[in-house]
Amino acid sequence: MTALSPSFVTHLECSETGEHHPAGILHGLSQAGAPLLAHYDLEALAKAVTKEDIAKRPPDMWRYREFLPIPPDIEPVSLGENMTPLIAVPKTAARLGAGEVVVKDEGRLPTGSFKGRGMAVAVTMAKALGIKRMAIPTAGNAGSGLAAYASRAGIESFVFTPSDTPEVTASEIAFHGAHAWMVDGLVGDCAKVVADGVDEMGWFDLTTLKEPYRVEGKKTMGLEMAEQYGWTLPDVIFFPTGGGVCLIAMWKVFKELKEIGWLEGPLPRMVAVQSTGCGPIVKAFDEGKRDVETWPDVTTNIHGVRVPNPLGGRLVLDVLYDSNGFGTAVDDDAVVSARAQVCAEEGLHLCPEGAACVVALEQEIKSGRVSAGDRVLVFNSASGLKSPMPPMNNRLDKGKAVDYKAL
Ligand SMILES: Cc1ncc(COP(=O)(O)O)c(C=O)c1O
Repeated sequence: MTALSPSFVTHLECSETGEHHPAGILHGLSQAGAPLLAHYDLEALAKAVTKEDIAKRPPDMWRYREFLPIPPDIEPVSLGENMTPLIAVPKTAARLGAGEVVVKDEGRLPTGSFKGRGMAVAVTMAKALGIKRMAIPTAGNAGSGLAAYASRAGIESFVFTPSDTPEVTASEIAFHGAHAWMVDGLVGDCAKVVADGVDEMGWFDLTTLKEPYRVEGKKTMGLEMAEQYGWTLPDVIFFPTGGGVCLIAMWKVFKELKEIGWLEGPLPRMVAVQSTGCGPIVKAFDEGKRDVETWPDVTTNIHGVRVPNPLGGRLVLDVLYDSNGFGTAVDDDAVVSARAQVCAEEGLHLCPEGAACVVALEQEIKSGRVSAGDRVLVFNSASGLKSPMPPMNNRLDKGKAVDYKAL
């Protein structure tokens, strides 16, 4: 088995039993069938790098290299993972009765979504550990991320998506060189194809939270945000939640930063945004449970949150409880209107999942769980251009006089 030279990771820990696994080798789930999480020697890390060192580095996710599991002698598999901007949306905020509202636009990353962060790190580790073939079940964006980074790394990839995945993403996956297949079901059905094929195909199963390094890559979202806010954090963070990796990753790194004393002020309340047509985490939170039950009847078209039985459900609930946050579910129709409204009023094209966070904010201002005094951060998790837009059918006949008043 390939073993890597040391990073600041000391070991990996089973998120259920706390059992330890060695760093620097290939990992799937723990023996208890739960996700493994990487643990760091934070004292050594904080001695090796300062905020000032980081500020001098190139503006990309690799500036946080010490917080990642990639050993110093390994070159990252990279497609140029720029820092994503924080964009204030004052008109939307005023319309909703909110105070400071900022969007972190993850649509600017390679392959147009936040999934690139996790894939860059997971594929770098997989390549370093000698993996030649990988497979993933996905709502779409993780699949285009894997396809792109696997091609970059010279790894063969197999990507399985539900058959109603938006056309742009489905085509993008195949165009990046993956073996792309649509399955007539949901992401759980795609996951079964991947799991059942492990022995015969010899692929590495990159299902959400079945390997530990996608989470580590997504921590860079939290690190970047902390640095952009001057090493403080907003009061409330809204994130569209399917498998929940981002909430888990952000909370993990906030705690790491707190432990080394880099963060001023309280940690934010974390909000999981789901749909009324698939909201297993919101339901479990509202019922005060520790376990998520499978959502029986998925009816939403917000693809990123269509995960009826998230493997990391418990970990996501822990984040909501620990951060004094909550879950909230939104209607598809409201999401369609919010996406159009923000695009027209702010010039910012959100994906449906990002627009879901705006609807959630509106709901929670009304409910009183968020107030106008809160500094709010809303994530736009992908480029709006990847999801269908209403058609535009206005045509001018060049042979006829233009009726300018009618334009
Ligand atoms: C655009 C978008 N937003 C949000 C999510 C949900 O992310 P997670 O599964 O990490 O909760 C996804 C997942 O596919 C997505 O594609």
